[in-house]
Amino acid sequence: MKKVLTIILSLQLVFLLAGCTTESTPDIPTPDEIDCEVTPNHEDCETNPDPDPETNYYYCIDLDEECLTLVEGFIDSMTLRQKAGQMVQAERGDISPAEVKSYGVGSILSGGGSHPTSFDNTPLQWYNMYVDYQTKAIESGTGIPIIYGIDAVHGNNNLYGATIFPHNIGLGAANDPELMYEIGRVTAEEMLVTGINWNFAPAMSVVQDIRWGRTYEGFSEDPVLHGDLIASIILGMEENGVSATAKHFLGDGGTSGGHDRGNTMGTEEMIRELYLAPYYDAIEANVDTVMISYSSINGSKMHQNGYWINDVLKDELGFEGFVISDWEAIHELSGDLETQIVLSVNAGVDMLMEPNAWRETISGIESAVSSNRITTERIDDAIRRILTVKYYRGLFEDPFAKLDDSYLGNEDHLAVAREAVRKSLVLLKNDNSSLPLAKTHKIYITGPGANSIGLQSGGWSTHWQGAYSNFWSWDFEMIPNDQLGSGIGIEDALSEALGGFSGEIVNSPELADTIIIVLSENPYAEGFGDNYDMTLTTGNAHSENEAALQIAAQYNDSKNVVGILLSGRPLLLEDNLQNFDSFIAAWLPGSEGGHGISDVLFGEFDFTGTLSFTWPNNYEQIGYNMNDDLYDPSSVLFPYGFGLSYQD
Ligand code: BGC
Ligand code: BGC
Repeated sequence: MKKVLTIILSLQLVFLLAGCTTESTPDIPTPDEIDCEVTPNHEDCETNPDPDPETNYYYCIDLDEECLTLVEGFIDSMTLRQKAGQMVQAERGDISPAEVKSYGVGSILSGGGSHPTSFDNTPLQWYNMYVDYQTKAIESGTGIPIIYGIDAVHGNNNLYGATIFPHNIGLGAANDPELMYEIGRVTAEEMLVTGINWNFAPAMSVVQDIRWGRTYEGFSEDPVLHGDLIASIILGMEENGVSATAKHFLGDGGTSGGHDRGNTMGTEEMIRELYLAPYYDAIEANVDTVMISYSSINGSKMHQNGYWINDVLKDELGFEGFVISDWEAIHELSGDLETQIVLSVNAGVDMLMEPNAWRETISGIESAVSSNRITTERIDDAIRRILTVKYYRGLFEDPFAKLDDSYLGNEDHLAVAREAVRKSLVLLKNDNSSLPLAKTHKIYITGPGANSIGLQSGGWSTHWQGAYSNFWSWDFEMIPNDQLGSGIGIEDALSEALGGFSGEIVNSPELADTIIIVLSENPYAEGFGDNYDMTLTTGNAHSENEAALQIAAQYNDSKNVVGILLSGRPLLLEDNLQNFDSFIAAWLPGSEGGHGISDVLFGEFDFTGTLSFTWPNNYEQIGYNMNDDLYDPSSVLFPYGFGLSYQD
């Protein structure tokens, strides 16, 4: 079955563009002249899922001639300065709508926790900000709309009140492609209540060393598991109106020692097998954009790595969308700014994420072309890619599209998140029929994560470093704990589930039949999470874990003791497991964490999650995983794929 999406430019836009642009703008065809057929034909790809054996290309995007004509029209008429503007992305906090008009920047982003004015801004406040920028973009010399990007990495996590999904590590454990599609859809819908339609997600990091602070952004240590999940979440976003970003290209999850922004080493064959593999799936799903990694491969920074970007990603894999640099990442290249621009643009980067230095970057591109350090062809290729994505994303058709606010955190969305939580939980131990719990139990629940939405959501939740830390946010407000505007903690969800039953939450361990101990890491994002001492009580571990573990040790002989760990990765459990009858890896389940965990604890649903990461016994086993030819599952604490259910 061939799916053809027909885009007809609305008269409204024709008037808008005609009224606002200068004579250098190409003639905009009338609606009758335009009948752009976009055939991203995922269906075709499904029937023909393998790359052409000769070229290794996927033939999925079938660009419509008339659309191309429009894009070429812009390319012919734009000045170098205007093209340079299109290639730059500025941060909301550092650019005014008037500057969008005068400089004609191609894109704006909100970094992690960069809100219009405050963390509790409403969808309308977000939309109004978006409209202010978009209106000025359309009034600019070219009339080309901006594309606005945001990190909605587990739901639209910058938006107060959004449905927050488990971080990817939990979704890898759930390993359910249909669910991934739904998460993509819900995320897209909760982005579109603000008008924003470009997501810097999914991260496809195939993580090889769990000491890396971004481990939880990856689905698995296994490149194969990534495949289906990635294609599904990308389709879920893009078929529902939002551009996805495959990131961070290439080898971000393989840096030595798990150092954030570090160096990934290996033969070409190994790099392809471990890290490139998921990009085939992303391109097959027609991912609109790819973000380059801060990291290096065999000592060469990815942002200047023409072999992997130009030759492999674009030529060999046939990626037709546009490539964006990471946040100020080109500044890590050597030389002055113009040289950094030259290195990255010539390596294949099409748009530069320059939150603050965007003005200098526009001038830098201009002067690099004037001095022949970058060719006009290369610039035109970048513009072609950027405008094509904007076109297919509907920005020329309706740059002010917005979904109704009722999509935010609605029942349907919460149900998807709750299902995701249930499926992401991995039961690691269940002795003495510890679980499921009966609703007649008297339950004492303690530990730092017992009732904390901030801890169960982790980093990239309302704020960059999470809604539970001592960081100052963008708006120079101290980050308020647990304030996401959505969600339910575990204790509250258990109380809710016990309503009408004889069981209850009691306030002392002595009174309880079952003691639930919820251990947690402190939230972190990116390099702040790099951790070389990762036990339950050291490194990023929450300081209250220690006391909670003592309760487990004290009562294990007399009570049923259930452990739940909220963490962005496996932690070294040392000899603590013996003090628990049952133990659950809950990862970072997000806003519906309480409900999803309660559903499974009471046996209303069974455990189906399995480990997408090897759980090491000790420090020496970190980095040893299922990709190792000599992998011996019995040598680690819990091997890749492990997970109990109530049937076991
Ligand atoms: C991160 C990216 C993110 C970008 C924008 C960078 O520091 O590495 O994953 O998309 O910032 O927030
Ligand atoms: C931003 C993030 C970004 C990071 C890069 C932060 O200030 O909020 O989005 O990823 O800087 O270092």
